[in-house]
Amino acid sequence: MKKFLAILMAALMMISMFAVAGAEDVKTYKVGVAIYQYTDNFMTLYRNEIEAYFKTLETDTVKYELTFADGKNDMAEQTNQIRNFITQGMNVIILNLVQTSSADAVIDEIVEAGIPLVLINREPLAYDADGNTIDEAYEGILNNPTVCYVGADARQSGTFQGKMVADLPNHGDINGDGVISYIMIEGDPENIDAQYRTEFSVKALTDAGYEVKCLDDQVGNWDQTKGQELCANALTSFGYDIEVVFCNNDAMALGAATAITTAGRVVGEDIYLLGVDALEEAVQLVREGEMTGTVLNDHIGQSHAAVDVAVKLLNGEAIENYYWVDYVMVNQEYVNAQ
Ligand code: GAL
Repeated sequence: MKKFLAILMAALMMISMFAVAGAEDVKTYKVGVAIYQYTDNFMTLYRNEIEAYFKTLETDTVKYELTFADGKNDMAEQTNQIRNFITQGMNVIILNLVQTSSADAVIDEIVEAGIPLVLINREPLAYDADGNTIDEAYEGILNNPTVCYVGADARQSGTFQGKMVADLPNHGDINGDGVISYIMIEGDPENIDAQYRTEFSVKALTDAGYEVKCLDDQVGNWDQTKGQELCANALTSFGYDIEVVFCNNDAMALGAATAITTAGRVVGEDIYLLGVDALEEAVQLVREGEMTGTVLNDHIGQSHAAVDVAVKLLNGEAIENYYWVDYVMVNQEYVNAQ
């Protein structure tokens, strides 16, 4: 019996020694992820995919401890969250800024704390009105080997929206008066995605030689309810003069779709409706003909690129300063091919 107990004790000691050694071999990285606003449909998909993808990269010896923060669309709140991340000693920060105009200050604080930074989704203003690069606006990113931006070029999404209208048999000119009359429902005007989509959707039409007329241009702040309200008001004011409804994103386009149906209008017959993001609900409406088209804002590609570069930074590898993910046009042809 004594001998048996001795063997058992020895075995237990060995097991516990191994367990301690095992625990020491596991490296846990602390990752802070700050999102501008949780109620945003698109950023919710993006955030969930960041979490899911990090999980797939874990091994027996490498773990990622994620802390998420909701900026509630308030820059002061987000600044506090970033300072908490710094105090908590995050190993890397992934940041979806509330205000891109605060980029320089925030980048400085994070860099000074020696924490690598991956900016996502809201590109700090980078071009002037003529499309030239504004180098000063980039400095925080370009001059820091541990800071980068991962996103999509919003000019492309706007151009695709305009192209989908230009490609229609009547080029969006339903009443045949030689002019495409449209309304624009914009996202947050400080956001470069909103600025470029507004500009380049229309530019694609004028570049193709079509005449356009803006009947109404309002700010819906990316929000579905606001999109519905603005579209309903415009339909009341301008009625059948409206031929095309451009929305800077799908959430607002989903709202506009409801307003269009409520007003007894029929997409594809007496009005056209365009969004961006390719939310599942919007793609379904394109399939059913209740939306003319949307543009895939690839949250999977973007979140994976952001996580991959965060992991590179954690491993001390060299990175690029910019990573771009393409948009994809989602019209009838696209959904039929799915
Ligand atoms: C855009 C997206 C919008 C909204 C915005 C937030 O890229 O299309 O739906 O999520 O980002 O910054």
